[in-house]
Amino acid sequence: MPDSSRPPLTAASTAKPAPVRVLSGIQPTGRFHWGNYFGAIRQYIELQTAGEAFYFIADLHALTTVREPERLRSLVHDAAVDLVALGLDPARATLFVQSDVPEVTELTWLLMTVCPMGLLERCHAYKDKKSRGLAADAGLFTYPVLMSADILAYDATIVPVGEDQVQHIEVCRDLAGTFNHLYGEVFTLPKPRLVESGARVPGTDGQKMSKSYDNTIEVFEDSAAQKKKIMRITTDSRPMEDAKNPDDDHLFALYSLVASETDRLKMADMYRRGGFGYGEVKKALVAAAADFFADARRRRAELEADPARVEAILADGAARARRQAGAVLARARAACGLTRGGGRPSPGGKA
Ligand code: TRP
Repeated sequence: MPDSSRPPLTAASTAKPAPVRVLSGIQPTGRFHWGNYFGAIRQYIELQTAGEAFYFIADLHALTTVREPERLRSLVHDAAVDLVALGLDPARATLFVQSDVPEVTELTWLLMTVCPMGLLERCHAYKDKKSRGLAADAGLFTYPVLMSADILAYDATIVPVGEDQVQHIEVCRDLAGTFNHLYGEVFTLPKPRLVESGARVPGTDGQKMSKSYDNTIEVFEDSAAQKKKIMRITTDSRPMEDAKNPDDDHLFALYSLVASETDRLKMADMYRRGGFGYGEVKKALVAAAADFFADARRRRAELEADPARVEAILADGAARARRQAGAVLARARAACGLTRGGGRPSPGGKA
């Protein structure tokens, strides 16, 4: 039976286009650093005004790497607090924890049954681990199927992700297409929206900011510790009087992320004139960072003091998410024959 609440899927359809529904998952594998924020999270949060938005903390995915229960619990809590402090508005977007929606794991199984092994064998995360001679578990191997269920369970149309996740969206589209082909138009095919291209965030040593290079500046790091880190950013050793090109200086790049446009232009002028010390720039960076994240830090302190409020936000998000995922799962179950209506099936197949 066609379900009138579903968005149309064919180009030929004359019905109105599918509403924009943004969805993304964020792994709670450590405290957010500037690379996470400026490279991804800021864009996710901006998209909460583009249409309906669903954001979740991917604790089931994190289980493939985090194996200390207490640590996982606190990472999930911190991620929720950080996201709201950074501007994710729970009144506008649905914020929830992945494992609070069991419908998604059931949907994962349905998708697993239409997923060729070869599709998963080609996926980077698994391939990389294998090529390094490490033992991969089935959780890592089937990670893209769980991710596909995450997306399809909410009829997401736009999935903002970093470059490394685009392949997984392709897997998702592939599985959705196969399922739809076999059983009828059940799933909405999502499109990836690449973030990151705008903001290349350098770390304190000038390489790309990444936990694996140990060169990160955490968003909510203690101010004194953050100042120390910034004052120790590596700089080149050219004489102070020399004019410098701001555009190939990572200290300037970091300053640009947090300074106002006017201050950024002033700083660029100073670089081009020369005769300044990097110490001055670092101090300016400390001050600009404090300013830039002042509201977020204040909101974070408020939320930290009110854990019940954080729990209420996540509970409300989970309830909204389950309603949506439940409807999609019901559609999928019915389509592939997991529902029994109209009495017992007769041995001959005829009623
Ligand atoms: N795998 C993603 C990452 O590591 C997180 C994630 C899980 C996700 N499920 C998702 C992202 C669904 C987008 C949509 O970044």
